[in-house]
Amino acid sequence: MSRHDFQIPVTFKHRVVFTRGAFDPENGELCAILAEGRGRRALVLIEEAVAAAWPGLVTEVGEYFASGPVELRGLHVLPGGEAVKADDLLVREVWKLLDAVHLDRHSYAIAIGGGAFLDAVGFAAATAHRGVRMVRFPTTTLSQDDSGVGVKCAINAFGKKNWIGSFAVPFAVINDFRFLHSQPAETARAGLIEAVKVALVKDRGFFEWIEENLTALGALEPGVLEECVERSALLHARHISGGGDPFESGSSRPLDYGHWAAHKLEALTAHRLPHAQAVAVGVALDSLYSARTGMAPPDVAVRVLRMLPALGMAIYHPALDWRDETGGRSVLEGLDEFREHLGGELTVLMLSGIGCGVDVHEIDAERVAACIDELRTLHSGGSNGV
Ligand SMILES: NC(=O)c1ccc[n+]([C@@H]2O[C@H](COP(=O)([O-])OP(=O)(O)OC[C@H]3O[C@@H](n4cnc5c(N)ncnc54)[C@H](O)[C@@H]3O)[C@@H](O)[C@H]2O)c1
Ligand SMILES: [Zn+2]
Repeated sequence: MSRHDFQIPVTFKHRVVFTRGAFDPENGELCAILAEGRGRRALVLIEEAVAAAWPGLVTEVGEYFASGPVELRGLHVLPGGEAVKADDLLVREVWKLLDAVHLDRHSYAIAIGGGAFLDAVGFAAATAHRGVRMVRFPTTTLSQDDSGVGVKCAINAFGKKNWIGSFAVPFAVINDFRFLHSQPAETARAGLIEAVKVALVKDRGFFEWIEENLTALGALEPGVLEECVERSALLHARHISGGGDPFESGSSRPLDYGHWAAHKLEALTAHRLPHAQAVAVGVALDSLYSARTGMAPPDVAVRVLRMLPALGMAIYHPALDWRDETGGRSVLEGLDEFREHLGGELTVLMLSGIGCGVDVHEIDAERVAACIDELRTLHSGGSNGV
């Protein structure tokens, strides 16, 4: 009998580009990225809503590839939005398309769409041939400022968010700013929550910059929106590449601040509450909880609860008060699910100040309930002294 422990060192290059008009004939960013790999074939998949908002896009993409180093084997417009994560229909469709044009592991699956579309297409690409190279073009605030530069992909199952999924580092992420300006305004504003989140746990200066630019951000002024997206994306990408735990083997998950409640609210509302809006409620709750338990000074809650409404985000949702058959608050089940997702020990990031996260391993349910009461009062226009 014997035992042998081997080390398998693996490193990934995480290519993140910020540009405008990536398919303009003069824009060489995508060509340069594709030329870095050995792949010679590509399949482009565009989310329906994006193709509709940019009627010239399909032609533009076709022409871009006509003179590039890579052969375009197909271009398809497919549905997107959270509904495509509800089952495996889109995943199967993408597998079929990849197989039909014989894409190998060195070929490129290029996906243009919002976070939900990229999650589903990304999962299909990650599992076809054990991983076809994926080039992501995120088209919403949230997917550009957070999920697009991440290394995960998933669809929902068993009433739970992201239950079927994989870690898969994309070959490249191309944040083309122009796409930001066709999203529905509500989606554009709501996606700023991931920038607020990462600022709160990592970068006080960035949080203060958001405070200074609240009016412009709330009005979706293009230059300020783009700067916010870029700063947030870089903070996310730096954490993933330099934080020592890109595939989340440990239990600390700083980028999931405010997400234990958010994921549960999404599931409770059968995803009628979009991810970004659920995260806004979760961030409000955990910021208030951090202050009310004395972990963070009171002004942390004051500033967060002022900022979110100024960005058009609700800080309360009625699902926070929904009860299960035993009369318990259903949202609290989110803590158990979070624990399960982490693989055992509960670790929730709270705040010790603006820009400073702190891991806690126990959550006081009664205090959470009191914070929910405060948020409800504030939301309905009352004042509670926050
Ligand atoms: N993989 C990860 O690490 C990760 C991280 C955070 C969030 N997510 C996931 O991302 C999803 C949310 O992504 P989202 O906020 O981008 O929402 P979304 O993908 O649902 O897009 C929102 C809406 O905007 C439309 N749309 C997208 N881009 C558009 C454009 N440029 N012009 C016009 N319409 C456009 C879509 O069709 C959709 O109706 C959730 O499923 C969430 O779980 C994943
Ligand atoms: Zn999120």
